[in-house]
Amino acid sequence: MKIKTLRLRSFRNYPQLLLHPPAGVTVLFGENGSGKTNLLEAVHLCCLGKSHRAGSDREMIRNGADSAAVQLTVEREDGLHDVGVRLYENARKRKLIYINGKTASRIGELFGHATAVMFSPEDLRVVLDGPDGRRRYMDMLLCQQRPSYFYALQSYASALKHRNALLKGEDLRQLPVWDEALCRTAVPIVTLRRSLVRELSPLCRDHYLYIGGRENETMDLEYRGCLADSDEIDADMLRGLNAHREEDLRRQTTSFGPHRDDLFLTLSGKDMRSFASQGQVRTAALSLRLAAFDLLEKTQGEPPLLLLDDVLSELDPDRRRRLLSRIAPFQTLLTCTDLSDLTGASPACVIRVDNGTLTEIE
Ligand SMILES: Nc1ncnc2c1ncn2[C@@H]1O[C@H](COP(=O)(O)OP(=O)(O)O)[C@@H](O)[C@H]1O
Ligand SMILES: [Mg+2]
Repeated sequence: MKIKTLRLRSFRNYPQLLLHPPAGVTVLFGENGSGKTNLLEAVHLCCLGKSHRAGSDREMIRNGADSAAVQLTVEREDGLHDVGVRLYENARKRKLIYINGKTASRIGELFGHATAVMFSPEDLRVVLDGPDGRRRYMDMLLCQQRPSYFYALQSYASALKHRNALLKGEDLRQLPVWDEALCRTAVPIVTLRRSLVRELSPLCRDHYLYIGGRENETMDLEYRGCLADSDEIDADMLRGLNAHREEDLRRQTTSFGPHRDDLFLTLSGKDMRSFASQGQVRTAALSLRLAAFDLLEKTQGEPPLLLLDDVLSELDPDRRRRLLSRIAPFQTLLTCTDLSDLTGASPACVIRVDNGTLTEIE
């Protein structure tokens, strides 16, 4: 997939912007705070309906503006796909999504038109922190593959919220309704996460070997959760909810279900979180993203967009060179503060970013 145009209006520090990146790697370089990540964030917004970093959509609206608009047109094998997102300062106005010029009625309609994989320095936290980030990693990948997964997640989250609210009150008559909704929506979530991890694990292992460059280090992924091995997810979920009911009532929260899932990462059989060095954690984080790229490429029949934010400076020159040679054929937006981070690689286009102004360098 190729970006034809990226248009911004009142987005972060960009009053207006029109970008036509060429095929291959476009390097965006400039000082900290100049607006490099903002551009990648805008592409992410069009692919996934939200920022990869902002807590709220409104944060992305240029200070002083009422609304922000981002529009991304990609060229795919079946033609052009055009995705637009409009955000409003007024909290009563909903975020609007446009697909090929028409307003979408549900956010899920956005998924699968323009797809992207974002690499960012925060990826280290996906490896090192608690399970939230790893669940998000699985979810972002599954949502981009099928909108039905996004709808299942939404229904599950809504049922969980209702059930937890009920657990705090006196009247438990509605409990079976929410238990039933949780059981029903847990089925696609667990089934798809399980098969995702099965596909991702060998891909991660290959990337880890290539980027890390050490033959005796093996990265593996394991899907962990209370239903990870279940053959009857619906029935086992109900049994689990019933078995934990007393505890849930006491703690006023739901303790059983895929909202507690984890993606367990190991390096040569050992827990990555406690055993890996900084360099190994970085390589693992990159491998997770490269594996996500492969999987999207496979399921969609063409490569997604690559967004690499400030990842080069963190890597040693050998790992950097191997990463750059791997991504060179694909449409990539890559940011750095120092062009020497490119270690001699020759990108298709180099753009200097200076306080929201872009200048192409020969
Ligand atoms: N809502 C906003 N309105 C105007 N400027 C913003 C907004 N949000 C962030 N900025 C500006 O964007 C810049 C940061 O952009 P960013 O892309 O993160 O920089 P970097 O080049 O370091 O990646 C800062 O100068 C910040 O003040
Ligand atoms: Mg940045």
